[in-house]
Amino acid sequence: MADLIGQLQSLAATARGAVAGAADERAIEELRVRFLGKKGELSAVLRGMGALPAGERPRVGEVANRVRDEVEALLGAARARLEERKLEAELAGPPIDVTLPGRRLVPRGHRHPLTRAADEITAIFSRLGYEVASGPEIELDWYNFEALNIPADHPARDMQDTFYVEEGTLGPGPRRGGVLLRTHTSPVQIRTMKRLGKPPVRVVCPGRVYRSDYDQTHSPMFHQVEGLCVDEGITFADLKGTLAAFARAFFGPATRTRFRPSYFPFTEPSAEVDVSCSICGGKGTLPRVRAQGRPDEAGPERAGGSGGLHPPDVRCGTCKGTGWLEVLGAGMVHPRVLENGGIDPARCTGFAFGMGVERMAMLKYGIDDLRLFFENDLRFLEQF
Ligand code: DAH
Repeated sequence: MADLIGQLQSLAATARGAVAGAADERAIEELRVRFLGKKGELSAVLRGMGALPAGERPRVGEVANRVRDEVEALLGAARARLEERKLEAELAGPPIDVTLPGRRLVPRGHRHPLTRAADEITAIFSRLGYEVASGPEIELDWYNFEALNIPADHPARDMQDTFYVEEGTLGPGPRRGGVLLRTHTSPVQIRTMKRLGKPPVRVVCPGRVYRSDYDQTHSPMFHQVEGLCVDEGITFADLKGTLAAFARAFFGPATRTRFRPSYFPFTEPSAEVDVSCSICGGKGTLPRVRAQGRPDEAGPERAGGSGGLHPPDVRCGTCKGTGWLEVLGAGMVHPRVLENGGIDPARCTGFAFGMGVERMAMLKYGIDDLRLFFENDLRFLEQF
């Protein structure tokens, strides 16, 4: 018995010295295995207990327990000491550089092409001094139609297939006339004039709009960007200059603009604005080699014959051979619309415009099917 107890005591003494000299986590772990592991020194001593008479075992067991507790405590204290030293070294060392770029473990995503197009449009106008404004997608009939000079029985309402919201589905609260999903971003014109209360007004309003339409080129939800500029002395020349500058910034510096007379109830005069085709450069035709790579542009109406030394050009599918793309509606704000926005039409004039974001993105990036925007197919989205 005295022999075993002596072995245990010398084990404890060795452990004290060894643990005190352990310099790192690994050394501490090695000592734990050496002294306390299944095949360690303590186990080896305890194996000798089997040979002792039963009466002596508890005494040896007691010493063995004490030695195990002590070695465990030594190892624990050594670990704590190391931790503390590490922390102290960190605190004393150079500060953490929070400006280091993060490590990219997962590839980053990117903006949807529609978000990108809308952002590019608003960025161009913000460089021209415009602010970004927004309004609700569930809108009052008054803002969407009435205040924009489109009364209930006006045939212009037929231009926009409207989703009406049943009053019963809305919570309690005051109502002023019908409620609907806005069919365009133009109601933000009224809301903005009323909010600012006085000129100058210079805003662009990007957002979702809704119409009861669904086919290859129409989706029931789509996006528009509205523009409004109101001040003293604003003329149609300002409108032309602004939209020409925008077209050059968005489609490229060689882009030309064309205004055609049109009709909108909220502008007078009104115009439809075309830009020279961004795909064929306004020529209406594409060199044959390019068109071959894009079969849908080689329509049946080919320009020129089929033989000859020079391959004949083919009709540009994007502008259908006209060289022009219709991109937006615009005009001088109707005096009644200014009045509804709380601005005196005798003192101020203004212009407004509205464009479809899907259409702008399709023309800029050469996309031929609007539904691609909403299918969320990564093979499509990853191209932007
Ligand atoms: N709101 C019209 C639409 O959705 C587009 C439009 C045309 C907006 C002319 C305007 C404008 O501000 O002046 O069809």
